[in-house]
Amino acid sequence: MTIRAVVKGVGHYLPERIVPNSEFESSLDTSDDWIRSRTGIERRHIAAPGQTTSDLGTRAARAALADAGLEPNELDAVIVATSTADLTFPSAATMVQHALGMTRGFAFDIQAVCAGFVYGLANANALIASGQAKRVLVIGAETFSRLMDWTDRSTCVLFGDGAGAVVLEAGIGAGTAQDRGILAADLHSDGTYRDILYVDGGVATQTTGHLRMHGKEVFRHAVEKLAETAHAALDKAGVSSADVDWIVPHQANLRIIKATAQKMGVDMDHVVVTVQDHGNTSAASIPLALSVGRDRGQIKPGDLLVTEAIGGGLAWGSVVLRW
Ligand code: UT7
Repeated sequence: MTIRAVVKGVGHYLPERIVPNSEFESSLDTSDDWIRSRTGIERRHIAAPGQTTSDLGTRAARAALADAGLEPNELDAVIVATSTADLTFPSAATMVQHALGMTRGFAFDIQAVCAGFVYGLANANALIASGQAKRVLVIGAETFSRLMDWTDRSTCVLFGDGAGAVVLEAGIGAGTAQDRGILAADLHSDGTYRDILYVDGGVATQTTGHLRMHGKEVFRHAVEKLAETAHAALDKAGVSSADVDWIVPHQANLRIIKATAQKMGVDMDHVVVTVQDHGNTSAASIPLALSVGRDRGQIKPGDLLVTEAIGGGLAWGSVVLRW
């Protein structure tokens, strides 16, 4: 008998404003063709002025709670994975907790950049498995548009805003890979690479700063490390890539998504791809893909999923779960 964190509900929210690649052509030396062919991105959503990360996260949370048929005060914990909390503190999670009208339990943020949602799932699973919480809401929410240098074509065309959320609930499994819920997690970070993807502002500079990236280097690490961590998580879960129904990858670049699937020996028909519509939404990209993939009818109860992500830190990891 094993306690597993089982997905009870999923939901997402995307800001209304959609910016197609062509919109950058008038202000930057770039083209729809370059962005599409190098990244797979066609459009992204951008938050309205004054619309914050916790606003997006709250909307995604409400959708996930409605899907689960639960009220906010039935939750024990709220975890928000984000690098773009509204304020330095309090956490975006306490803001979401308050906006939901939840007055019990505890809430905190996880800052592992694009790997944040994978870290969030792993932590929520640990809280549930150890008996500290029965129901945990895990949200990935970002407004990366606020970190963009809009004159830097090598970064500003890549990112977008959005939020996704899942409600996890303790379930009793037999302890086998047939159980529903989170089966295994594999997490890593290595600060040796902190300079290849970072924001040049923060408390130290008393500015918000802008995202800076050595794209080629991050790309190289992504292709190497994502398949590795996914395989490690599959091993821990006692399954193989042949058992995978869906890879739900971090959505940064279609070329990375394809290369990782190929390394894992998984056909692209078994990969949930949303990068064309959302761009890179950092910690929000995986829960957005889970929610959209479910709504499209791709992800079904009982399916074996592997999520994998890498981002600033570098921080990376993978979670294997049965939906
Ligand atoms: O979510 C966190 C993890 N992040 C990632 O996974 C991102 C990983 N990196 C990437 O996805 C890719 O490296 C990029 C999409 C960022 C860049 O693609 P690339 O194929 O590695 O291009 P590059 O950086 O080597 O640039 C190739 C050329 C350069 O011109 P030169 O030096 O060859 O003349 C760039 O200046 O493309 C140029 N370039 C652009 N041209 C038109 C860079 N950005 C643009 C642009 N439009 N927006």
